[in-house]
Amino acid sequence: MKKIRTTISLIKADIGSIGGHVKPSQKVIERVKEYIEGSNLIVDSRIFHTGDDIGLLLSHFQGKDNAKIHKLAWDAFMAGTEVAKEQGLYGAGQDLLTDSFSGNVKGAGPGVAEIEFDERPNEAFCIFMADKTDPGAYNLPLYLSFVDPMHNSGLILAPSMNKGFKFVVIDVEHKGKDRIIELNTPEDLYDLAVLLRDLERFAVEEIFSRNTGEQSVNVSTTRLHNIAGKYVGKDDPVMIVRVQGDFPATGEVLSPFSIAPYVAGFMRGSPVGPLMPVKLNSSISYFDGPPIVSAAGLCVQKGHLTEMVDLFDHPFWDSIRNKAAKKAVAIREQGFFGAAMLGMNELEYGGITERLGKLEKKFKLRD
Ligand code: F6R
Ligand code: MG
Ligand code: MG
Repeated sequence: MKKIRTTISLIKADIGSIGGHVKPSQKVIERVKEYIEGSNLIVDSRIFHTGDDIGLLLSHFQGKDNAKIHKLAWDAFMAGTEVAKEQGLYGAGQDLLTDSFSGNVKGAGPGVAEIEFDERPNEAFCIFMADKTDPGAYNLPLYLSFVDPMHNSGLILAPSMNKGFKFVVIDVEHKGKDRIIELNTPEDLYDLAVLLRDLERFAVEEIFSRNTGEQSVNVSTTRLHNIAGKYVGKDDPVMIVRVQGDFPATGEVLSPFSIAPYVAGFMRGSPVGPLMPVKLNSSISYFDGPPIVSAAGLCVQKGHLTEMVDLFDHPFWDSIRNKAAKKAVAIREQGFFGAAMLGMNELEYGGITERLGKLEKKFKLRD
């Protein structure tokens, strides 16, 4: 008998928020929840938010990229958008970029991470959701937790990871067909590092165990500005990571987040700011930021989800949040100068490039 494979889909969208790009209203979240829970397509679900984005965690047997599941998520976001409009929320329906939904939320605005797998007898996984940043924000944490024994002690202690991992990296600037490359660690480590250092161009999309071929990671890697052709907000990526056994342990996946690395995002998507690990359902504050990431741990059995454990809700992370706040203030002191702001191609809103265009004409060559 063919074993039924479980699929975990994590789909997120910003469909409007209270008081600016801060957090969705409870009414909107309730409406989305009610819509999802009324469906018999899925086995289980958890609905939450990180900053102004609502995350739908869906477990089901319909497989990856399934049109019915994607339509369910789309329709739930549409239903929530109606409430957001009624309440006059800011940016209502912001991430729903198409009028005619074609069966896959990828390329239509919402971010999606999905993994389809045969459940292990004890299937533990984590989900991550970031706000005010883009998919490259996960590059450094993933690199460190899958290739560096300083964070992943299992690479030297556990034989189950001794063959390393296969990384699938995507060129997020490329329009049209996905442009991807596969690299194997440890032998391609330096090549991987060369790509992943460029957070705005290359993002880790998938990671597979080379011991078993099983998938651990999927990151939502769509870039909203490639879809819309203009600035419509940062991508605020979500990620699923299957953990333990042949994969890194939960604590090894969390370990690099203690760096609070500088990433792209923050106010108007153009500066650089530290990625602050926050509790589930946190809102946005200082300078429309700082960029934040939340994480939850769960188990799944026959498609049924346990409750979510809030992985950054622990005293340890309070000091990291303080460190991130200090890093945020430190870089903000430099405002828009040099390293505090992204390169020309990445500046959102177009104001600076417009101004530069006008100045170009005024430049003269001195005799
Ligand atoms: C960044 C973000 C916010 C807005 C800012 C201005 O991803 O969402 O920082 O860019 O609040 O918003 P608008 O242009 O909607 O007035
Ligand atoms: Mg928003
Ligand atoms: Mg957002």
